[in-house]
Amino acid sequence: MARTSAGAVAAMLPWPSWAAEASSIEIPGKAGMIVRSDRFLDLEMPAEFFDSWITPEPHFFVRNHMHEPDALNAGEWRLNIGGELENPLTLSLTDLAKMEQHTVTNTLECAGNGRSFQQPRVPGVQWQRGAVGTARFTGPRLHDLLQRSGMKAAGKHVMFRGLDEIPGKVPAFIRSIPIEKAMDADTLIATHMNGAPLTRHHGFPARALVPGWIGAASCKWITEIKVLEKEFEGNFMKPGYRMPNQPVSPGGDVNPDDTHPITALGVKSIIARPGDGSASKSSRVRIEGAAWAGEANIVRVEISTDLGATWHPARLGHQQVRYAWRLWNFDWSAPKAGEYTIMSRATDDQGRTQPQTAAWNPSGYLYNAIDQVKIHVLA
Ligand code: MTE
Repeated sequence: MARTSAGAVAAMLPWPSWAAEASSIEIPGKAGMIVRSDRFLDLEMPAEFFDSWITPEPHFFVRNHMHEPDALNAGEWRLNIGGELENPLTLSLTDLAKMEQHTVTNTLECAGNGRSFQQPRVPGVQWQRGAVGTARFTGPRLHDLLQRSGMKAAGKHVMFRGLDEIPGKVPAFIRSIPIEKAMDADTLIATHMNGAPLTRHHGFPARALVPGWIGAASCKWITEIKVLEKEFEGNFMKPGYRMPNQPVSPGGDVNPDDTHPITALGVKSIIARPGDGSASKSSRVRIEGAAWAGEANIVRVEISTDLGATWHPARLGHQQVRYAWRLWNFDWSAPKAGEYTIMSRATDDQGRTQPQTAAWNPSGYLYNAIDQVKIHVLA
């Protein structure tokens, strides 16, 4: 049976094995973002922008596997809904707008967020903390679209196809989700983000929104929904976006047949302030960050300033909605001047706690180790 190493995965996937270091070009409308790739646009939110419960669109990360579609005309755009259905439908943006609208506040995180912290290193976009953001997404429920089309009993998975401009022989961005998640009342075909029509970077005129799941589930520039009997098996479902069924020793090989598609996000917190490597003139330091857990809810964030010997509860922000992150903060007084490591650790209502070391896998997915930053206290 074929076995896959990190290098082999890189060779199979349509992105460069090692993304270039962050580039300093400015993307219009996205000032201050870290440009991880400008071939296919990949933009990361710097840690200082984690200060807002709702991420403004200019600060929301962008993850594109291919070129964004050039000139999508809202009047001409159509959504085709077919497959295992009694009445296949073709809908316009106006048709979507006439349906009952639903808003879900969701923390969207790329499965590869934090990949650059994996040891040994793995190929792919070298995200640090900011391939994540929280926004209010609005549109009709996928459930209502499928109900209207008359679901057949044979339909078990729902596939989305994006309108990305495909360079060369790269396969189209097509993935599927199981019917249970598709029929969930919070799974949307979103046309709006934070109260405004989606921008081109985020999937104009419509995208799927699969709350609590890895960002890859939420197909942008959606043009087709197809109900299938079986899970879709194209490149972005297999070998892409899969986790090993068994623990893998760091740097080890994985049998592709012994993997499963990634669905919901894990439990995670990140430290936004103070910045890693920063100096504080005062011994009193406010530590801030965000914590999220996919479909689960954050119940606790703890801070350690003594390399994990003792942990102290952080204050959780009052904004609390299912699928959305909790902001948190902690006021710390350094006992004396010197170098410190600040650590944050989140726990959710499924009893999951951030691990000391993330489960290593050849693509560096779902990195969620206890976060840490180093700080120099001068006073
Ligand atoms: N949809 C299409 N059509 N093409 C893509 O490349 N990228 C996916 C997902 N939907 C992608 C897509 C990935 S990997 C992520 S993490 C999210 O979109 C990112 O959404 P954003 O760019 O709006 O932040």
